[in-house]
Amino acid sequence: MNPVPRIAVLLSGRGSNMEAIARAIQANRLSARIVAVASNRAAAAGLEKARELGLPAHCFPLRDRGREEYDAALAAFLRQAGAEWVCLAGYMRLVSRPLLEAFPRRIVNIHPSLLPAFPGLEAQRQALEYGVRYSGCTVHLVDATLDGGPIVAQAVVPVLDTDDEAELSRRILEQEHRLYPEALALLLSGAFEIQGRRVTRKI
Ligand code: GRF
Repeated sequence: MNPVPRIAVLLSGRGSNMEAIARAIQANRLSARIVAVASNRAAAAGLEKARELGLPAHCFPLRDRGREEYDAALAAFLRQAGAEWVCLAGYMRLVSRPLLEAFPRRIVNIHPSLLPAFPGLEAQRQALEYGVRYSGCTVHLVDATLDGGPIVAQAVVPVLDTDDEAELSRRILEQEHRLYPEALALLLSGAFEIQGRRVTRKI
């Protein structure tokens, strides 16, 4: 039997996607083990949620470190914890070279829009303001660009005339919680190929 893949989750806030991943593992919908949940913010509610779920939760403050210095230390910490994959879940920092090199093509992110539309902050608000009829969420591999790596999976969410930012965000988040564990199941199984920007299931 293959060993269970070991993942780390990085977050900066609420942590509902981290919880969705943890619950998918508990329910045997995802074969993985969370070896660390880490946050750059001590006050992140997601850290408390992780502890409640019995997961090892760590605050990893920036202190005075520059981006690369911080990411090098974080990479060493995650490696030490045994992580093979890193899942960003509401992690509000750009990932730099030392972390990318420590986990090549093994850092995953979820973003609340249909990329390449509306990268960056407040994607749901951007979608409403632009007037699109459909938005959604995207799971993608992380590279040095903002929300720009190869796309693994997407889910479409219609934008309703009655939507405000909170309501659209709520319906997108529902899809995020389904999509992220599903996309991870594909990645962690290893049964995928990357061709350029395309991530496809190996047949
Ligand atoms: C989600 O909308 C995710 O797509 C974005 O940040 C939000 C994090 O929410 N990257 P949570 O902390 O997982 O609840």
